[in-house]
Amino acid sequence: MSLTCTPLHPVLGAQAHGIDLTQPLSAQQVSAINAAMNQYAVLVFRGQALTASQQIHWMSHFGEIDIGLKRVFKRPERLGDERLIDISNVNAQGQVDRRDSPKNLSNFANQLWHSDSSFMKPRAAYSLLHCLITPSWGGNTEFADLRHAYDTLDKRTRRDAEGLQAEHYALHTRLLLGDEAYTDEQKKALAPVVWPLVDTHPGSGRKLLFVGAHARQIIGWPTAESRMFLQDLLEHATQHDHVYAHEWQPGDTVIWDNRSTLHRGRRYDISERREMRRTTINDDEHAHLT
Ligand code: OGA
Ligand code: MN
Repeated sequence: MSLTCTPLHPVLGAQAHGIDLTQPLSAQQVSAINAAMNQYAVLVFRGQALTASQQIHWMSHFGEIDIGLKRVFKRPERLGDERLIDISNVNAQGQVDRRDSPKNLSNFANQLWHSDSSFMKPRAAYSLLHCLITPSWGGNTEFADLRHAYDTLDKRTRRDAEGLQAEHYALHTRLLLGDEAYTDEQKKALAPVVWPLVDTHPGSGRKLLFVGAHARQIIGWPTAESRMFLQDLLEHATQHDHVYAHEWQPGDTVIWDNRSTLHRGRRYDISERREMRRTTINDDEHAHLT
């Protein structure tokens, strides 16, 4: 079967049909998915239960799977394969974790608008999130298109942003959330990286505004002024009408391009179980994104 897409929102996101995620992809299917990603930025596959190894295999068509922050934060993990990122509030013993656990801290950091691994070089290209268990209320994931954010900027702001560089720091959101317990070694491993604030998305050739919660400083600007500008741009990029909100059902699989979008999780009752599995590939020489 071949891929067909039904738009889910005027700006971004489409529901994808015609692909069985448990089966290997042909080269043609890979390029059809990449073309759809370049257009819609977020693809939603509904009702396909995936095993952990099927998820890894499917994602591997697009590049080598990255383990992200696990390189620096070594914690007991519930999921056997380190390529699976456990996006859940469940601990290594299988219980819903303490309210103030490190796991929940990461979950709360995911509730700030971000692009996965924008604090690393290379940064993330695609992320895929597979839903296993949803809480009874809340817990949507929202997406915003950074190309649309650029397109809809007023001329003056667009000119002001052009040519600037922003520093992205992994611990910025965590410090914001009140967690300061990091060793010098961890801080060193997470040294900030710099990305152009206005960039071009390679797959679509469209310009974009690369903001998000990890961006903490515009190079060469006073800190207060740069934080307020970044905050302003983020607010613009994520205004309500520009956002696709995904309401999860078990079996949903959503893939997004971190180079052209931001996302955030929404609040839910963290005493209720929420279980998702993420796989992410980086924007590096192993990636197959065309
Ligand atoms: C992620 C993420 C948000 C959520 O998995 O990268 O940000 O809704 N998740 O869990
Ligand atoms: Mn994320």
